[in-house]
Amino acid sequence: MEETSSTNDLAKKIAQNTEKDFVVRADRQSSGRGRRGRGWNSPPGGLYFSLCTSREKLLPIKASLAVGFTLEDVGVEFELKWPNDVLAEGKKLCGILTEVSEGRSIVGIGINVEIAPLENSINLAALVDEPVNVDELMQRVIDRLFKLGNDDDLLQAYRSYCSTIGSHAVITTPSSQFTGLVRNVDNKGRIILQNGKRVTAGDVVHLRKGAQNR
Ligand code: BTN
Repeated sequence: MEETSSTNDLAKKIAQNTEKDFVVRADRQSSGRGRRGRGWNSPPGGLYFSLCTSREKLLPIKASLAVGFTLEDVGVEFELKWPNDVLAEGKKLCGILTEVSEGRSIVGIGINVEIAPLENSINLAALVDEPVNVDELMQRVIDRLFKLGNDDDLLQAYRSYCSTIGSHAVITTPSSQFTGLVRNVDNKGRIILQNGKRVTAGDVVHLRKGAQNR
């Protein structure tokens, strides 16, 4: 499809009429949505798609790993910033917005392919020699997603790629903001801070180690 407001919103509508898994993709979005109520600038030149599938608690983490492994498959090194940003060369290459609708998960994935609209973002075409085919890229991500191993294996992989672990970070949750050293990610995908506090949802900005101010 050429344009839709948001592939996540379109997927929510379609989910009302089918129980099967499905994917919707658009060349551009007029009201692309990001995490925590932000917008996602979606001009032509990006990959914007949403997968509707059964609910799974680690799906956002899985989706970020699936994108990361797809990048690795085409020779691009990646890191993950909790909860599920995919970065290359320290800059954001992909954002993921997972929502629940009709009892199912809508995993919305935005990858900068030809364009990098955000400050401190990067695009895939700048990192690879071959032209990028967005349909193929999307299919590779989906294949990778459904081939990930069991929860223990994928959490272990997530931890090994997650540059938030070991970083001092400013953490903004829906109710507060604080700074702390992130020690690990637990089996539910929550970050564990040095003081033992666990955070389920929020944004992080890395202050030291790994990347600066991402
Ligand atoms: C973020 O990093 O804040 C998440 C961005 C998610 C963007 C994707 S693009 C496809 C899908 N449709 C949307 O409106 N948002 C997601």
